[in-house]
Amino acid sequence: MKNLDFIYNRHSVRKFTQDDIPMEDLKKILEASTYCCSAKNAQNWHFVIIKNQDKANQLAKAIEEKNTEIANQLQDEKQKIAFKKFVRFATFFKDAPITILVYCSSYVPTGLKEMNILEGYEEELKHIVEMSPQMQNIGALIQSLLLAATEIGYGASWITSGNYASKEISNVIDFKKEGYSLAAIVPIGVPQPPIKSPGRKPIEDVISIIE
Ligand SMILES: Cc1cc2nc3c(=O)[nH]c(=O)nc-3n(C[C@H](O)[C@H](O)[C@H](O)COP(=O)(O)O)c2cc1C
Repeated sequence: MKNLDFIYNRHSVRKFTQDDIPMEDLKKILEASTYCCSAKNAQNWHFVIIKNQDKANQLAKAIEEKNTEIANQLQDEKQKIAFKKFVRFATFFKDAPITILVYCSSYVPTGLKEMNILEGYEEELKHIVEMSPQMQNIGALIQSLLLAATEIGYGASWITSGNYASKEISNVIDFKKEGYSLAAIVPIGVPQPPIKSPGRKPIEDVISIIE
């Protein structure tokens, strides 16, 4: 039986060496990631690749400033400290040779148009929207990207904790694409060990079998 090492070998990499990534490798990874599944094959994504160190620093600064702005309004001192401390998990991309900004657009999920013209389907409509099929597509894309990067010797990470600064981020890079919003930041590079992997819930805890 084939093993599943390609899945187990992936870890969130937050420290990178100074080594660069050839554009050829990056394109290979991005192209492979787009072969993930997407509802209605919507492919509702767009990559913005940051190769410029100054720009990466400006992006991190924009997140730090927004973090401070929010933190300064918090009354609870403990909450304020915790929020400020967590900012490093949103900005470590600045030390990676390449940062990918993943943008997402929406599409019309099955049933939405139909139920919108009918009455009595509020709950179903709410559920469809809350389960965000467009974001599920982005999840499939990013996981594929991380697996592809790992497979050819790189390390990467998935960052959403800086999303509160999405407007500022798009302004720094002057990127606008009608209907697209920032979904995640993905730094990529050669991993610098050690890489720690947090544990998982026992599989029995996350399975329910209906017989
Ligand atoms: C949607 C999503 C958002 C995440 N956001 C962040 C983040 O903002 N900062 C960070 O350091 N890690 C982030 N992570 C990585 C998780 O912390 C990590 O996947 C989890 O702890 C399991 O560790 P592993 O990826 O090494 O297996 C995110 C992961 C996902 C799937």
